Amino acid sequence: MTSNQKLINWVNEWAALCQPEKVYWCDGSEEENTRLLSEMVASGMAVKLDEKKRPGSYYFQSDPSDVARVENRTYICSAKQEDAGPTNNWADPVEMKATLNGFFKGCMKGRTMYVIPFSMGPLGSDIAHIGIEITDSPYVVVNMKVMTRMGKAVLDVLGNGEFVPCIHSVGAPLEPGQKDVKWPCAPIEDKYICHFPDTNEILSYGSGYGGNALLGKKCFALRIASNMARRQGWLAEHMLIMGITNPQGVKKYIAAAFPSACGKTNLAMLVPTIPGWKVETVGDDIAWMKFGKDGQLYAINPEAGFFGVAPFTSMDTNPNAMLSARANTIFTNTGLTPDNDIWWEGIGYDAPEGTITWTNELYDKASGKPAAHPNARFSAPAFQCPCIDKDWENPTGVPIAAILFGGRRPGTVPLVYQSFDWNHGVFMGSIVGSEVTAAAIGLKAGVRRDPFAMLPFCGYHMGDYFGHWVKIGESAPDITKLPKIFNVNWFRKSAQGKFLWPGYGDNIRVLQWIFERVTGTAAAEETAIGYVPKLGSINTAGLEGVDANMPELLTVDKNQWKDELDLVREQYATFGSHLPEELAKQIIAIEQRFEK
Ligand code: OXD
Ligand code: MN
Repeated sequence: MTSNQKLINWVNEWAALCQPEKVYWCDGSEEENTRLLSEMVASGMAVKLDEKKRPGSYYFQSDPSDVARVENRTYICSAKQEDAGPTNNWADPVEMKATLNGFFKGCMKGRTMYVIPFSMGPLGSDIAHIGIEITDSPYVVVNMKVMTRMGKAVLDVLGNGEFVPCIHSVGAPLEPGQKDVKWPCAPIEDKYICHFPDTNEILSYGSGYGGNALLGKKCFALRIASNMARRQGWLAEHMLIMGITNPQGVKKYIAAAFPSACGKTNLAMLVPTIPGWKVETVGDDIAWMKFGKDGQLYAINPEAGFFGVAPFTSMDTNPNAMLSARANTIFTNTGLTPDNDIWWEGIGYDAPEGTITWTNELYDKASGKPAAHPNARFSAPAFQCPCIDKDWENPTGVPIAAILFGGRRPGTVPLVYQSFDWNHGVFMGSIVGSEVTAAAIGLKAGVRRDPFAMLPFCGYHMGDYFGHWVKIGESAPDITKLPKIFNVNWFRKSAQGKFLWPGYGDNIRVLQWIFERVTGTAAAEETAIGYVPKLGSINTAGLEGVDANMPELLTVDKNQWKDELDLVREQYATFGSHLPEELAKQIIAIEQRFEK
């Protein structure tokens, strides 16, 4: 399939170490996909869903220990520990390679080694990059088919060029005659998700879960790509990309970063509640951005599918996600109905009698055990999304007019505010955080900082990453064409603990203000923390009771911000000399503006 000798040698070396029963090069065809899925159904790994209700779709249950990304088993193996920074687990690359060598030796015995050529981004795009994943998991192959452009066409574009080498094994070799389990994986202490930024390599051992095993996504498109972007002067970000069209037909694209569980997929596919406005989706998770020849920042979605959280996705909360997953979708760890369809908590209707849980037990609502794991997922092709943007596969990308940051903040942070300039916007990104409740995750209650929503995904020192953002602003071909930067907070609460803003489809009203700031017509008030909407400048027409909340939603309270800045100082102290001076200065500038 290829004459790329470096690639052939690399595959041969790994085959010699892992000792699979056979090596199979994936061509990416429909025939191949159907064959692998049928083999998994025959072996008991997968259930084919009802062809009428859910055409071309399949259901998987993971091992109960392998349901999510494993941050404490995820490593950045840079030559110098300091380069990984305080937010990553670091391991010495030579020692880690030696450890992994031990694990990978013979790890694919009794299994097939699949070679998956894949492109992150439209094939041939200037912003796209090619990777090759070696895996012993057919589940990974069929998911990569949804989530990336994969197969023979990628090898044709690659020619003799460079690729990002990605090696994955579930870490469960089979002895001769040993029967396979439904979801092979290694115990938690043997799982390793390792990144070698100096050589762009990814080695993942022991987990079959998406974020640990579909190596194009978090491992390549964020952790390795953030290093590539730093070296080459572009941005690899944990951001959705959406197009917004106003009633006059003017269209602007925005990119937005939010920590997990803040509704990123819902925002990317929002159904506007105000007439005449339209939202179209380019991507729901990752954006790669580069300056174009015209001096504007252009973004591509490096992925080809959505790996969405299923629970609480419904025709009410996100009809476009539900319709994206209507066919040709892989469901993992949801419930399974007796008529071979899926079900999850918050899907919008009751579980049919006889529903099976993700742990393969009969669902009993009274037991309190959910049918779907809270991190149950659907892998759905992006082209099936009813609101997919016509330019989502444009190799040039889409021009980004605004960048949004946000988190869940019951207090302090107004509904929306705009930065004064680029570096002030970088400061806003650096202080992103979400409120955690002590009860929910056993942490001290307070704000969990998640700078740029990249805490688990930045592949190098977070302080240097902030510096890279500052440099991007300095290296902009035309600063007047830089995206405008905003922070949003849909989650502000009243003193009585009630949400002040309706959220969901009504978030278009805040997007309208942002849109009109970009086009220069929306009114704003200059405050110490940035430009906040003038009262009355957010479109609340038709919303009951929200006008009364507006003053509180837009309040910038000096005392709350003093506490906030104290916490930011604490956060910044962890970055030591890597913190760019431009950001430290922002704290002082805000304090001075409060004193004015
Ligand atoms: C994801 C995540 O799965 O951010 O997208 O964890
Ligand atoms: Mn994500």
